[in-house]
Amino acid sequence: MDLHLDIQKILVSEEQLSAIVERLAKEVSRDYADKKLLLVGILKGSVVFMGDLMKKLTIPSQIDFMKVSSYGSGTRSSGYVKITLDLLRDDLESTDILIVEDIIDSGKTLSALTKMLDARGARSVRTCTLLDKPSRREVAFTPDYIGAEIPDEFVVGYGLDYNEDYRTLPFVGVLKEEIYRK
Ligand code: IMP
Ligand code: MG
Repeated sequence: MDLHLDIQKILVSEEQLSAIVERLAKEVSRDYADKKLLLVGILKGSVVFMGDLMKKLTIPSQIDFMKVSSYGSGTRSSGYVKITLDLLRDDLESTDILIVEDIIDSGKTLSALTKMLDARGARSVRTCTLLDKPSRREVAFTPDYIGAEIPDEFVVGYGLDYNEDYRTLPFVGVLKEEIYRK
């Protein structure tokens, strides 16, 4: 099975992804120079992005992961956010959390997560997303760091999936509609 055959077009190429990551790593390294940075990747979509981003940081940082389910299978958010893997730390008061996410769509996932980590007493909570689909917001939410804004199209690759497939593609591409309409 050739995964590339299911892709209608490449939206963000490998070269563009690497330039985006480079820029974001510079911004984060500058902004967190005097802080205690904890990158919190949201599984599984953020793993490729986070792996690339953390290698480019020039400041000390720790990493952790959370898993949240909101989509189920399919291409629409259910709007219901459930934590299925949580942070196990008791030092949040002295920790500056940067949530690392693959894509923001309705905004519900990150809006809920940010409020939750704030309520638990983290010293600061900010968000970094590789991709943003601002036209799809259902709740007001603005991430602090954005890799690229994209139109309302369902994308896969570089960590993003459709029913768990396509995460390993090295670029971000638009999935052919016939794949998720069938
Ligand atoms: P939100 O709560 O609606 O903002 O949902 C964000 C989550 O939906 C992301 O973490 C992705 O898992 C998923 N998602 C939204 N749009 C896409 C897409 O185009 N491709 C793959 N996953 C997506
Ligand atoms: Mg996700």
